[in-house]
Amino acid sequence: MSEVAKLLIDGKELTFPVIEGSQGEKAIDIRSLRQETGYITFDPGFGNTGTCRSSITYMDGEKGILRYRGFSIEQLAEQSTFVETAFLLITGELPTREELTRTSVYLNDFSPLHESMKAFYQNYPPKAHPMGILSAMVNAMRSFYPELTDIEEEMNKTYLRIISKIRTMAAMAYRISLGERVVYPRPDLCYCGNFLNMMFDSAVVPYRLDDDLIRALNVFWILHADHEQNCSTTAVRVVGSGKVNIYSTISAGISALWGPLHGGANQAVVNMLEKIHNKGFTVKECLAKAKDRNDPFRLYGFGHRVYKTFDPRAKIMKKVCDVVLSKLKRKDPLLEIVQRLEEAALNDSYFKEKNLYPNVDFYSGILLRAMGIPTNMFTVMFAIGRLPGWISQWKEDVADTEMKISRPRQIYSGKQKRDYIPINKRTL
Ligand code: CMC
Repeated sequence: MSEVAKLLIDGKELTFPVIEGSQGEKAIDIRSLRQETGYITFDPGFGNTGTCRSSITYMDGEKGILRYRGFSIEQLAEQSTFVETAFLLITGELPTREELTRTSVYLNDFSPLHESMKAFYQNYPPKAHPMGILSAMVNAMRSFYPELTDIEEEMNKTYLRIISKIRTMAAMAYRISLGERVVYPRPDLCYCGNFLNMMFDSAVVPYRLDDDLIRALNVFWILHADHEQNCSTTAVRVVGSGKVNIYSTISAGISALWGPLHGGANQAVVNMLEKIHNKGFTVKECLAKAKDRNDPFRLYGFGHRVYKTFDPRAKIMKKVCDVVLSKLKRKDPLLEIVQRLEEAALNDSYFKEKNLYPNVDFYSGILLRAMGIPTNMFTVMFAIGRLPGWISQWKEDVADTEMKISRPRQIYSGKQKRDYIPINKRTL
């Protein structure tokens, strides 16, 4: 007989099936719990709740394992490209040469922006955060490309349209924020090279593409491409479960990513490091603040809901960072602070006891700074990378016959029923 879990409740013994994943992880299937008992489960932050079956990404937080569709993040970072990894996540398999060529053709075809979309930028205040602009622009795509069908081939084009245009939108937002001329995508450049060129090319000093930087950007985006049921992906699944169109669903994912506890941590890490550097804050003071329960300060770039050891992405990011800094012969004073912070935190009993290790964002800001990406664009860089993950999770959710509209329950803790009091009879 398959494994079951027993629950003794109100003197009654109930049996629930146990579901086992392909890597041996187990879940108690409590779907009939409320109907049978009137009880619900209580799990704020969903730390113990599985919301779907997924065949996209596997993580083992205790061992520091991350795999996309069965391939280790280490091998993908070493050998794959971002476009190939995106194809893998969305379709489930690595592309053939022919499929990859077709994908690149579509990415090129879709890369320019509709002229009317450009007007959007001009109307934003100059200090608008690029994440807010990006989320609005992706949502607006629904109005520019309304013809969405169920035909797989057409939907595949829609996925590539978003992946291609998000890169143009991000680079354009940056150029316009500087008051500089917009650089258009070039069909002769690869996905990452095109992005760097659109960001940094200038009529005065033409941008010289560097293979090591292109490689570093590929790795950066591969490392961010998916991370199973994190905050923004859950937002995508929850919003998508109401059968919202894909553009608005991805826009919700971008908004969810923005926060400093999630994708916004890369910007928060660099802001924190700059504070330490500029204001003479010591590493010791920083750790003391992070450990003080009455202080809202956190050591950004440390800790993770799933990883209770080194985030495997952080290890790779650190290496890429070293390569890029030495290639550019650049010394970043923040790198030295990062290294001192890491060493101090890893040897601190508070961080040891709570299993707080560096996560992907601890080193990513240093890499992006070295590449010339401005701090307020860091989370946009994360969003471009996470896009294939959101798309594949949305696609899986839509196709899953087990899925329903997301609608959690709650434990009500407010007032009991009471009578309405007319305003002239209310007392303080
Ligand atoms: N600095 C100081 N204390 C921390 C930190 C930190 N960075 N992270 C967790 N803690 C403490 C926390 O105060 C709590 O202490 P206590 O048990 O005394 O209440 C304990 O460790 C457990 O933390 P939690 O907040 O309950 O854990 P969580 O799983 O809900 O949160 C997290 C995970 C990533 C939000 C959290 O570790 C954090 O805020 N880290 C800093 C922000 C950050 O770097 N985020 C990027 C995550 S990786 C990129 C991504 O995928 O989004």
